[in-house]
Amino acid sequence: MRKKVSIIGAGNVGATAALWIASKELANVVLIDVVEGVPQGKGLDLLEAMPIEKRDVHVVGSNDYAATANSDIVIITAGIPRKPGMSRDDLLNTNFKIMSDVVKKVVAQSPEAIIIVISNPLDAMAQTAFRQAGFNRERVIGMAGVLDSARFRSFIAEELNVSVENVTAFVLGGHGDTMVPLARYSTVAGIPLPELIPADRLEAIIQRTRDGGAEIVKHLKTGSAFFAPSAAAVEMVEAILKDKKKILPCAAYLTGEYGIDGYYIGVPCKLGAAGIEQIIEIKLTAEEDAALKKSAEAVKELCAVIGV
Ligand SMILES: NC(=O)c1ccc[n+]([C@@H]2O[C@H](COP(=O)([O-])OP(=O)(O)OC[C@H]3O[C@@H](n4cnc5c(N)ncnc54)[C@H](O)[C@@H]3O)[C@@H](O)[C@H]2O)c1
Repeated sequence: MRKKVSIIGAGNVGATAALWIASKELANVVLIDVVEGVPQGKGLDLLEAMPIEKRDVHVVGSNDYAATANSDIVIITAGIPRKPGMSRDDLLNTNFKIMSDVVKKVVAQSPEAIIIVISNPLDAMAQTAFRQAGFNRERVIGMAGVLDSARFRSFIAEELNVSVENVTAFVLGGHGDTMVPLARYSTVAGIPLPELIPADRLEAIIQRTRDGGAEIVKHLKTGSAFFAPSAAAVEMVEAILKDKKKILPCAAYLTGEYGIDGYYIGVPCKLGAAGIEQIIEIKLTAEEDAALKKSAEAVKELCAVIGV
């Protein structure tokens, strides 16, 4: 039986995630949106691309959650994106209402699914989905770290003129201005970054990574990034569907790991068929630990506003 992935929100991120999933032949895809016609039209259009791409997957769009029944994975992108001058946190109240409503409908149709949250502000929206779904923490995962580290990796590969495949990067913390890229755990062909890039250049690259989303919003003006975010979510989907046991930075609900209890924050997670199968704890320096705690405080403040 082919696997089934439903995507809630058939906008830029959702539709592009559908494209990556179909083009990798990972699963049948259901696109859902509140706007009538949009998921149907995009779903049909993508289905019609499959003979050209030689991929046997079914793609369908609907406004009715019945189409999502018994999904293996549900990706939630529903919500509003940023416009220039807005922070991710400015989306909080609107997206909280949307997330609460969407998760209720998702869970009613797919009580065994694994939920991947993309809507911003990411960590607070993952926490909202976790509370609303009532699933164990293994099955509600936030996507941010794969994207943030992909941005970091792109900039490092450009800086050193090396293959992106040689660059591994390690990013902890919340998705936002408080994210914590860990240079000493980031390597090029196994060589730690601080040995290859002077400290001031490295700091500039780290800052560009933190501002990576805003840089794109500034260019686009009418919305936010979607190619890399959707690719990042689909890397998580692939790790789960293929039970790869792949270690990826994800937003996970912590219960004491890294000294944080009761909040979503980005940490290295092992993803496999059960969702988050392990949270990897590494020893942080005092400075890194303080940066992570600061990031967690920012998430905590947002969660307090919406009461999750
Ligand atoms: N986690 C990350 O790293 C990351 C990266 C990029 C974007 N995002 C976030 O993802 C979200 C989507 O971004 P986008 O660029 O695709 O936006 P978009 O506006 O292109 O798409 C959002 C879609 O959600 C739909 N929607 C709104 N309310 C809904 C509801 N109640 N039920 C179902 N669908 C609903 C809209 O009709 C729209 O089609 C935003 O919140 C954005 O900030 C997160």
